Amino acid sequence: MKQSAESAASPWEVAPSQFETIRMMARTAFGLDLKPGKEALVSARLGKRARELGLDGIRTYLERIQADRTGVELIALIDALTTNYTSFQREPQHFDLLRTRVLEPAARDHGRVSIWSAGCATGEEPYTILVHAAEVLGEAGLDRLRLVASDISTRALESARRGIYTEDRVAPLPESWRRKYLQRGTGEQQGYVRVKESYRKRIDFQRRNLMESHPDLPPFHVIFCRNVMIYFDKPTQEALVGRFAEKLEPGGWLLIGHSEGLMGIRHGLEYVMPAVYRRPAGTGRAR
Ligand SMILES: C[S@@+](CC[C@H](N)C(=O)[O-])C[C@H]1O[C@@H](n2cnc3c(N)ncnc32)[C@H](O)[C@@H]1O
Repeated sequence: MKQSAESAASPWEVAPSQFETIRMMARTAFGLDLKPGKEALVSARLGKRARELGLDGIRTYLERIQADRTGVELIALIDALTTNYTSFQREPQHFDLLRTRVLEPAARDHGRVSIWSAGCATGEEPYTILVHAAEVLGEAGLDRLRLVASDISTRALESARRGIYTEDRVAPLPESWRRKYLQRGTGEQQGYVRVKESYRKRIDFQRRNLMESHPDLPPFHVIFCRNVMIYFDKPTQEALVGRFAEKLEPGGWLLIGHSEGLMGIRHGLEYVMPAVYRRPAGTGRAR
């Protein structure tokens, strides 16, 4: 068949009109702002998925997504397009703040602490939060912690729930913490560690799309939403920050990635320092 100027050179390369379709789907379904120039990345990632399904190219793959009423293929598309990069103790200033401004006061007052790791990827962020909380609140004090960790990616969440990492990934944690909170694999699992079950079960992992509102979630003292909004356009970011602001307790903290910022976004939060915002105290109840 003769190719039109519009179509791609190979069935494994996205054509401009296909890129536009994928862009719209990604924007509507999960707020992703796929910028022009990402065609090669999209071709590679979707091509991989299409091959896994035994399809003969991107066009058939898009037809499959559009025909699928179960939503399963849309989730796979999201998995293919999102970046789950994360690490233990990433952006450590946030964990210093968590300790001094939230956990230590709660340890002194025997208060409750509720934290949401929104966009938790493969779990390194919520497990880091958990071990800091265990260190400050003590074992018994962990009963006063509610830690919700959510992501849109089922694949990332599965791996977060498993809590298995290679030894080099946990290297940012101090040696004494690694001994206390992780178990080392032996035999075939040599080179891997797993977060001990008694700690894994402390985290409530949930699949949630941050494009939606979450009235069933409780108010939080701290929301970590780091390196997630970077992929969203401004209107989506503004709506999301508005929902976070409503979900925070008065005086509660919103922590975002250091390469992100709320510049150009209307929000009712106080700027505290780079990547740290706070709901002003005395601003009604969280919803
Ligand atoms: C780069 S990771 C950030 C992980 C961690 N917060 C950190 O800073 O290390 C971004 C995560 O956001 C998730 N994500 C992207 N869009 C989302 C959406 N609409 N709802 C929920 N999670 C989303 C991705 O699946 C991915 O796991």
